[in-house]
Amino acid sequence: MNPVVHIYPSKTEAASAFAQTLSEQIAAKEGHFHLALSGGSTPKLLFTLLAENYRNEIPWGKVHLWWGDERCVPPEHEESNYRMTKEFLLFSINIPQGNIHRVRGEDRPDREAIRYEEEIKVHLESKDGWPVFDMIMLGMGGDGHTASIFPDNLSLLDSPQTCAVAIHPDSGQKRVTLTGKVINQAKEVAFLVTGASKKEKVQAILGKEEGSKAYPAAHIQPVEGNLSWYLDEAAAP
Ligand code: 6PG
Repeated sequence: MNPVVHIYPSKTEAASAFAQTLSEQIAAKEGHFHLALSGGSTPKLLFTLLAENYRNEIPWGKVHLWWGDERCVPPEHEESNYRMTKEFLLFSINIPQGNIHRVRGEDRPDREAIRYEEEIKVHLESKDGWPVFDMIMLGMGGDGHTASIFPDNLSLLDSPQTCAVAIHPDSGQKRVTLTGKVINQAKEVAFLVTGASKKEKVQAILGKEEGSKAYPAAHIQPVEGNLSWYLDEAAAP
């Protein structure tokens, strides 16, 4: 199925549309809603909008938050995706602590990848042997990576594991990441990508240009779920 591409004049409008879609998806789901968040800087605007405009509109008690990837640093570290989410979102919403499933970045990466996978499998329903997220939110790096699946390690797209240890190709920083098959098992996968620095790769991926399969984000194609891209005009083809 082809992705549904939403393009907005500004990153604020793109994030606002994403927030509204998320609110509607959560409302439509009976029972728990398992949402995996992306990290980096793009989500900060989305999280701010959720904190300001959806504090009471979203029934956060039914939402379980997971991370699509996490840097292997302590939770108070400035590069921690959990810390960023706490500062921009968690401090502002009333969500049970038991619904927040952070990756323990302070622990040994290989052991944490196993532990996180087990925690995911305990909480999520599965299909064809894979845990099924209700929604996985993804960003995309300027090199076309997504989650922490980088171009130099495309094998993570076919890993038999739900979670794996990845290494940032420039910094050498270790990460724990969801892998390609579990991402593609989700009911909804939504990219939120903004800024001119992403335009070239977005264009290559959405245009299915020659060579675009070198970019991990080009391999995100849900088996049965829906794929959406939320873009601002700066990042759009
Ligand atoms: C991370 C992310 C990563 C991110 C992209 C885009 O931990 O860094 O999950 O996949 O989404 O690198 O990052 P920006 O939003 O900062 O451009």
